[in-house]
Amino acid sequence: MGNQVYRLTTPRSDGEIPCHQYLLVDELSALISLGTIQMVDEVRESLPIPVSRLTYVVTPHFEGDECGGLARLLELAPQVVPVCSHTCARQLFRFGICHSSLIVSDGDRLDLGALRLRFIATPHVHQWDSILTYEETMGILFSSDLFMQRKDTWGLPPEALMAEVVEVARGIMPSPRALGQALEKIQELDIKVIAPGHGRLLTSNVESYVSALKDVAKS
Ligand SMILES: [Fe+2]
Ligand SMILES: [Fe+2]
Repeated sequence: MGNQVYRLTTPRSDGEIPCHQYLLVDELSALISLGTIQMVDEVRESLPIPVSRLTYVVTPHFEGDECGGLARLLELAPQVVPVCSHTCARQLFRFGICHSSLIVSDGDRLDLGALRLRFIATPHVHQWDSILTYEETMGILFSSDLFMQRKDTWGLPPEALMAEVVEVARGIMPSPRALGQALEKIQELDIKVIAPGHGRLLTSNVESYVSALKDVAKS
């Protein structure tokens, strides 16, 4: 059975930057990041598989554009299992959104079939409960708000794209120490593509983005 990775891009009515959701389809399927409550119906309609075939929703952290639509999705597709950190699962439970998330810790793996996910705990990288997702067979790092871009970077030359990635990281990372620790872990991965939750895919010179953010962590 073939496996596929899709990127959905959902515009936002509130004028904020568009969000990407990534769907991995194999024997099991996982949607990485969901979107806000205002976006969730559009995201569901954009899925190339019926929502009844969706197995997991990976929630990189507890924030509206990552999981604001989760309660609505679980109404429509109660078989879906949220996957997140322990801290995030606590929020989902205490806000009455989900009673039984699949909690993952640093280095935990989740096989979808041929596709294999590994989770990287990155606490206090942007949010206190953050995890990133790495797909091992293709070398894709689903980096959520790390390496994201706020402005439209389509067509920008590499140096301008890099400048935007660095500027955004300077603005939204609360702890340089936590950022540095996360980047140490990221450097050990064999990354071919960085797939952020907002902005362009980073497909070449991936190491240069990692080392640029290491400089941010030191500053
Ligand atoms: Fe976020
Ligand atoms: Fe985000």
